[in-house]
Amino acid sequence: MQEHFLETVRGWVREAGHIAVLTGAGVSAESGVPTFRDAQTGYWAQFRAEDMATEAGFRAHPEQVWDWYQHRRQLMDGVQPNAGHQALAQFQAAHPGRLTLITQNVDGLHQRAGSTGVLCLHGDLFANRWLDTPRNCCHIDDAVAGRPPTCERCGNQLRPGVVWFGEMLPLAVFEAAERAAQACDLMLVVGTAGAVYPAAGLAHQARSASARVVVLNPNPSELDGTADAVLRGTSAALLPQLLAA
Ligand code: APR
Repeated sequence: MQEHFLETVRGWVREAGHIAVLTGAGVSAESGVPTFRDAQTGYWAQFRAEDMATEAGFRAHPEQVWDWYQHRRQLMDGVQPNAGHQALAQFQAAHPGRLTLITQNVDGLHQRAGSTGVLCLHGDLFANRWLDTPRNCCHIDDAVAGRPPTCERCGNQLRPGVVWFGEMLPLAVFEAAERAAQACDLMLVVGTAGAVYPAAGLAHQARSASARVVVLNPNPSELDGTADAVLRGTSAALLPQLLAA
Protein backbone atom coordinates (compact mmCIF):
# COMPACT_ATOMS: atom_id res chain seq x y z
CA MET A 1 0.00 0.00 0.00
CA GLN A 2 2.73 2.42 1.08
CA GLU A 3 4.75 1.51 -2.06
CA HIS A 4 1.75 2.32 -4.20
CA PHE A 5 1.30 5.73 -2.51
CA LEU A 6 5.00 6.46 -2.81
CA GLU A 7 4.89 5.91 -6.57
CA THR A 8 1.78 8.07 -6.86
CA VAL A 9 3.39 10.92 -4.92
CA ARG A 10 6.58 10.60 -6.98
CA GLY A 11 4.37 11.21 -9.98
CA TRP A 12 2.87 14.30 -8.33
CA VAL A 13 6.40 15.60 -7.68
CA ARG A 14 7.31 15.13 -11.35
CA GLU A 15 4.13 16.90 -12.50
CA ALA A 16 4.26 19.82 -10.07
CA GLY A 17 5.37 23.13 -11.53
CA HIS A 18 5.92 24.46 -8.07
CA ILE A 19 6.37 22.60 -4.80
CA ALA A 20 6.19 24.09 -1.30
CA VAL A 21 7.66 22.11 1.57
CA LEU A 22 6.76 22.82 5.20
CA THR A 23 9.13 21.18 7.67
CA GLY A 24 9.16 20.75 11.43
CA ALA A 25 11.28 19.25 14.17
CA GLY A 26 10.93 15.70 12.83
CA VAL A 27 13.17 16.54 9.85
CA SER A 28 16.07 17.07 12.24
CA ALA A 29 15.29 14.06 14.45
CA GLU A 30 17.57 11.74 12.45
CA SER A 31 20.41 14.25 12.85
CA GLY A 32 20.07 13.80 16.60
CA VAL A 33 18.60 17.26 17.32
CA PRO A 34 16.43 16.95 20.40
CA THR A 35 13.02 18.57 20.01
CA PHE A 36 12.10 21.42 22.25
CA ARG A 37 10.69 19.07 24.89
CA ASP A 38 13.31 16.35 24.47
CA ALA A 39 16.07 18.88 25.23
CA GLN A 40 14.68 19.17 28.74
CA THR A 41 16.59 16.41 30.41
CA GLY A 42 18.77 16.38 33.51
CA TYR A 43 18.94 19.77 35.19
CA TRP A 44 16.41 21.22 32.74
CA ALA A 45 13.72 18.62 33.42
CA GLN A 46 12.45 20.69 36.37
CA PHE A 47 11.33 23.56 34.13
CA ARG A 48 8.24 23.79 31.96
CA ALA A 49 9.04 24.16 28.25
CA GLU A 50 6.48 26.94 27.99
CA ASP A 51 8.30 29.03 30.60
CA MET A 52 11.45 28.87 28.48
CA ALA A 53 9.74 30.14 25.35
CA THR A 54 7.77 33.23 26.26
CA GLU A 55 8.75 36.85 26.71
CA ALA A 56 7.18 36.79 30.17
CA GLY A 57 9.34 33.79 31.11
CA PHE A 58 12.48 35.58 29.91
CA ARG A 59 11.65 38.79 31.78
CA ALA A 60 10.93 36.82 34.95
CA HIS A 61 14.03 34.60 34.77
CA PRO A 62 16.45 36.02 32.16
CA GLU A 63 19.50 34.13 33.39
CA GLN A 64 17.74 30.78 33.42
CA VAL A 65 16.15 31.22 29.98
CA TRP A 66 19.42 32.53 28.50
CA ASP A 67 21.25 29.46 29.86
CA TRP A 68 18.56 27.19 28.38
CA TYR A 69 19.15 28.60 24.90
CA GLN A 70 22.92 28.34 25.36
CA HIS A 71 22.31 24.70 26.29
CA ARG A 72 20.27 24.15 23.13
CA ARG A 73 22.98 25.86 21.05
CA GLN A 74 25.57 23.51 22.56
CA LEU A 75 23.40 20.49 21.77
CA MET A 76 23.90 21.39 18.10
CA ASP A 77 27.68 20.90 18.36
CA GLY A 78 28.71 18.18 15.95
CA VAL A 79 25.19 17.74 14.53
CA GLN A 80 25.06 17.33 10.75
CA PRO A 81 22.25 17.63 8.18
CA ASN A 82 20.77 14.23 7.28
CA ALA A 83 19.61 12.61 4.05
CA GLY A 84 16.26 14.43 4.25
CA HIS A 85 17.83 17.89 4.42
CA GLN A 86 20.22 16.89 1.63
CA ALA A 87 17.48 15.59 -0.66
CA LEU A 88 15.65 18.93 -0.42
CA ALA A 89 18.83 20.91 -1.13
CA GLN A 90 19.76 18.68 -4.06
CA PHE A 91 16.29 19.03 -5.58
CA GLN A 92 16.53 22.82 -5.32
CA ALA A 93 19.93 22.77 -7.00
CA ALA A 94 18.74 20.46 -9.77
CA HIS A 95 15.45 22.34 -10.34
CA PRO A 96 16.10 26.05 -9.68
CA GLY A 97 12.97 27.96 -8.64
CA ARG A 98 10.72 24.91 -8.37
CA LEU A 99 10.80 24.26 -4.63
CA THR A 100 10.19 26.75 -1.82
CA LEU A 101 11.30 25.53 1.58
CA ILE A 102 9.40 26.78 4.62
CA THR A 103 10.61 25.63 8.02
CA GLN A 104 9.54 25.92 11.62
CA ASN A 105 13.00 24.77 12.68
CA VAL A 106 15.54 27.16 14.14
CA ASP A 107 18.54 24.84 13.89
CA GLY A 108 19.89 26.03 10.51
CA LEU A 109 20.35 22.47 9.17
CA HIS A 110 18.46 23.13 5.92
CA GLN A 111 20.80 26.02 5.12
CA ARG A 112 23.85 23.96 6.10
CA ALA A 113 22.70 21.22 3.70
CA GLY A 114 22.76 23.86 0.95
CA SER A 115 19.11 24.87 0.68
CA THR A 116 18.56 28.41 -0.50
CA GLY A 117 15.84 30.97 0.20
CA VAL A 118 14.71 29.06 3.30
CA LEU A 119 11.72 30.77 4.91
CA CYS A 120 12.39 30.43 8.65
CA LEU A 121 9.04 31.05 10.30
CA HIS A 122 10.32 30.73 13.87
CA GLY A 123 13.66 32.52 13.64
CA ASP A 124 17.23 31.40 14.19
CA LEU A 125 18.56 29.66 17.31
CA PHE A 126 22.01 31.18 16.80
CA ALA A 127 20.91 34.81 16.36
CA ASN A 128 20.46 37.34 19.15
CA ARG A 129 18.44 40.53 19.25
CA TRP A 130 17.55 43.15 21.80
CA LEU A 131 14.69 42.43 24.18
CA ASP A 132 13.52 46.04 24.19
CA THR A 133 13.65 48.51 21.31
CA PRO A 134 17.35 49.32 20.93
CA ARG A 135 18.49 52.86 21.71
CA ASN A 136 21.52 54.62 20.25
CA CYS A 137 23.67 53.10 22.99
CA CYS A 138 22.70 49.49 22.17
CA HIS A 139 25.28 47.85 19.93
CA ILE A 140 25.11 44.07 19.84
CA ASP A 141 28.86 43.70 19.39
CA ASP A 142 29.50 45.83 22.49
CA ALA A 143 27.01 44.05 24.74
CA VAL A 144 28.69 43.31 28.03
CA ALA A 145 29.23 39.60 28.49
CA GLY A 146 26.71 38.19 30.91
CA ARG A 147 23.78 35.87 31.14
CA PRO A 148 22.20 37.43 29.14
CA PRO A 149 24.63 39.95 27.64
CA THR A 150 23.50 43.49 28.44
CA CYS A 151 23.96 47.05 27.17
CA GLU A 152 26.16 48.65 29.79
CA ARG A 153 24.50 52.02 29.34
CA CYS A 154 20.79 51.29 29.49
CA GLY A 155 20.57 47.70 30.73
CA ASN A 156 18.75 46.42 27.61
CA GLN A 157 19.29 42.66 27.35
CA LEU A 158 20.03 40.39 24.41
CA ARG A 159 17.54 37.59 23.80
CA PRO A 160 17.61 34.66 21.37
CA GLY A 161 16.36 35.46 17.87
CA VAL A 162 13.61 32.87 17.92
CA VAL A 163 9.84 33.36 17.87
CA TRP A 164 8.38 32.63 21.28
CA PHE A 165 4.82 31.54 22.01
CA GLY A 166 2.44 34.47 21.68
CA GLU A 167 4.78 36.42 19.38
CA MET A 168 4.19 37.46 15.80
CA LEU A 169 6.00 35.59 13.08
CA PRO A 170 8.39 37.74 11.01
CA LEU A 171 5.86 39.36 8.69
CA ALA A 172 7.79 39.38 5.40
CA VAL A 173 8.81 35.74 5.89
CA PHE A 174 5.28 34.63 6.68
CA GLU A 175 3.85 36.55 3.72
CA ALA A 176 6.36 34.87 1.42
CA ALA A 177 5.36 31.49 2.88
CA GLU A 178 1.69 32.27 2.27
CA ARG A 179 2.41 33.22 -1.33
CA ALA A 180 4.27 29.94 -1.84
CA ALA A 181 1.45 27.95 -0.23
CA GLN A 182 -1.16 29.62 -2.39
CA ALA A 183 0.83 29.29 -5.62
CA CYS A 184 2.10 25.73 -5.31
CA ASP A 185 0.76 22.65 -7.06
CA LEU A 186 2.02 20.32 -4.34
CA MET A 187 2.78 20.87 -0.66
CA LEU A 188 4.84 18.36 1.30
CA VAL A 189 4.28 18.62 5.06
CA VAL A 190 7.28 16.91 6.62
CA GLY A 191 8.09 16.06 10.23
CA THR A 192 5.66 18.38 11.94
CA ALA A 193 2.89 17.61 14.38
CA GLY A 194 0.87 20.32 12.62
CA ALA A 195 -0.36 21.66 15.94
CA VAL A 196 1.20 25.13 16.00
CA TYR A 197 -0.46 27.97 14.10
CA PRO A 198 -0.16 29.98 11.95
CA ALA A 199 2.49 27.64 10.45
CA ALA A 200 0.12 24.67 10.20
CA GLY A 201 -2.46 26.88 8.49
CA LEU A 202 -0.20 27.02 5.42
CA ALA A 203 -1.25 23.45 4.59
CA HIS A 204 -4.91 24.50 4.70
CA GLN A 205 -4.11 27.48 2.48
CA ALA A 206 -2.42 25.21 -0.06
CA ARG A 207 -5.38 22.86 -0.02
CA SER A 208 -7.86 25.73 -0.46
CA ALA A 209 -5.83 26.89 -3.46
CA SER A 210 -6.27 23.42 -5.01
CA ALA A 211 -2.76 22.13 -4.39
CA ARG A 212 -2.21 18.51 -3.47
CA VAL A 213 -1.07 18.12 0.11
CA VAL A 214 1.07 15.17 1.25
CA VAL A 215 2.05 14.47 4.87
CA LEU A 216 5.33 12.64 5.57
CA ASN A 217 5.49 11.51 9.18
CA PRO A 218 6.08 8.20 10.99
CA ASN A 219 3.25 9.09 13.39
CA PRO A 220 -0.24 10.55 13.08
CA SER A 221 -0.26 14.35 12.71
CA GLU A 222 -3.00 16.93 13.01
CA LEU A 223 -2.76 17.62 9.29
CA ASP A 224 -3.41 14.04 8.16
CA GLY A 225 -7.09 14.85 7.58
CA THR A 226 -6.16 17.72 5.26
CA ALA A 227 -3.85 15.60 3.13
CA ASP A 228 -4.46 13.89 -0.20
CA ALA A 229 -1.93 11.26 0.86
CA VAL A 230 -0.10 10.37 4.07
CA LEU A 231 3.25 8.60 3.84
CA ARG A 232 4.20 6.87 7.08
CA GLY A 233 7.96 6.96 7.40
CA THR A 234 10.85 9.13 8.40
CA SER A 235 11.96 12.13 6.40
CA ALA A 236 15.50 10.82 5.91
CA ALA A 237 14.05 7.66 4.35
CA LEU A 238 11.18 9.19 2.35
CA LEU A 239 12.50 12.50 0.99
CA PRO A 240 15.37 10.94 -1.02
CA GLN A 241 12.92 8.46 -2.57
CA LEU A 242 10.38 11.15 -3.44
CA LEU A 243 12.77 13.79 -4.75
CA ALA A 244 15.35 11.67 -6.55
CA ALA A 245 15.75 12.60 -10.21
N1 APR B 1 10.88 12.00 10.30
C1 APR B 1 9.75 12.71 10.14
N2 APR B 1 8.95 13.09 11.16
C2 APR B 1 9.33 12.74 12.39
C3 APR B 1 10.50 11.99 12.65
C4 APR B 1 11.30 11.62 11.54
N3 APR B 1 12.43 10.92 11.68
N4 APR B 1 10.60 11.82 13.98
C5 APR B 1 9.54 12.42 14.53
N5 APR B 1 8.75 12.98 13.58
C6 APR B 1 7.54 13.75 13.74
C7 APR B 1 6.72 13.46 14.95
O1 APR B 1 5.85 12.34 14.71
C8 APR B 1 5.94 14.75 15.16
O2 APR B 1 4.75 14.74 14.41
O3 APR B 1 7.93 15.12 13.91
C9 APR B 1 6.89 15.81 14.60
C10 APR B 1 7.54 16.70 15.64
O4 APR B 1 6.54 17.45 16.27
P1 APR B 1 6.90 18.66 17.25
O5 APR B 1 8.01 18.27 18.17
O6 APR B 1 5.63 19.16 17.84
O7 APR B 1 7.55 19.73 16.28
P2 APR B 1 6.92 20.81 15.29
O8 APR B 1 5.65 20.32 14.70
O9 APR B 1 8.01 21.22 14.40
O10 APR B 1 6.62 22.00 16.31
C11 APR B 1 6.22 23.24 15.80
O11 APR B 1 6.25 24.23 18.00
O12 APR B 1 7.65 23.73 19.75
C12 APR B 1 7.21 24.77 18.90
O13 APR B 1 8.21 26.63 17.87
C13 APR B 1 8.37 25.25 18.10
O14 APR B 1 8.78 25.21 15.73
C14 APR B 1 8.22 24.49 16.78
C15 APR B 1 6.71 24.37 16.66
